[in-house]
Amino acid sequence: MRLDVVTIFPEYLEPLNLSLVGKARARGQLDVRVHDLREWTHDRHNTVDDTPYGGGPGMVMKPEPWGEALDAVIASGDGEERPVVVVPTPGGEPFTQEMAVRLAERPWLVFTPARYEGIDRRVVEEYAREYELLEVSIGDYVLAGGEAPVLVMTEAIARLLPGVLGNAESHRDDSFAPGGMAGLLEGPVYTKPPVWRGRSIPEVLLSGHHGRIARWRRDEALRRTARNRPDLIAGRDPAAFDRDDRRI
Ligand code: ADE
Repeated sequence: MRLDVVTIFPEYLEPLNLSLVGKARARGQLDVRVHDLREWTHDRHNTVDDTPYGGGPGMVMKPEPWGEALDAVIASGDGEERPVVVVPTPGGEPFTQEMAVRLAERPWLVFTPARYEGIDRRVVEEYAREYELLEVSIGDYVLAGGEAPVLVMTEAIARLLPGVLGNAESHRDDSFAPGGMAGLLEGPVYTKPPVWRGRSIPEVLLSGHHGRIARWRRDEALRRTARNRPDLIAGRDPAAFDRDDRRI
């Protein structure tokens, strides 16, 4: 998979050299290219923003550098693949595990993290006409820019790529995975030692009884979901709980 990121803070994307994403890059499973938006400015100050039409606080990112940058990045493709343009914005549709799964199936994503009050709207309109374009929010809060959301989305997507996680089953039961722990949050996990500061692990985990362990995990998942995300239970078809019971 190829990922391009156009930003005025290329250093912000350095964590993409680390850990799981960094390893996927080193193995050639992920081709990440970070571009400095200011390369596509032509004035002495490398200006990327200007005051908003209609007045108001803050600055708006100018359309010309974004247009030139996106044209250049897209033209550097092999001409066959068409990218999905992903625009991080608090005004976008929510980023979910389901969206991560869908995006992980695409060969090429181009991220456009903005600063200030956002990018001149005409840029979104222009590229949405030619390409699949998604405006995406990672949550109901406002960050200072879209770079952190790009890190978040990249990590969620990269770990789903074939061969990136050592154990392909490890995302099957992810919280939120479609068809995973039946749409519930994952419950608690334990490792050695069996007693730490006087605290033992739940005995069932030592029983070796797969059926009982599966049932316990499901009960814990249900308990955690009821406490932290009751909306996930309210939104579910009750018959699905029975189906899961039969699976166990
Ligand atoms: N830019 C600023 N806040 C954001 C958010 N919550 N999601 C995506 N992009 C953003």
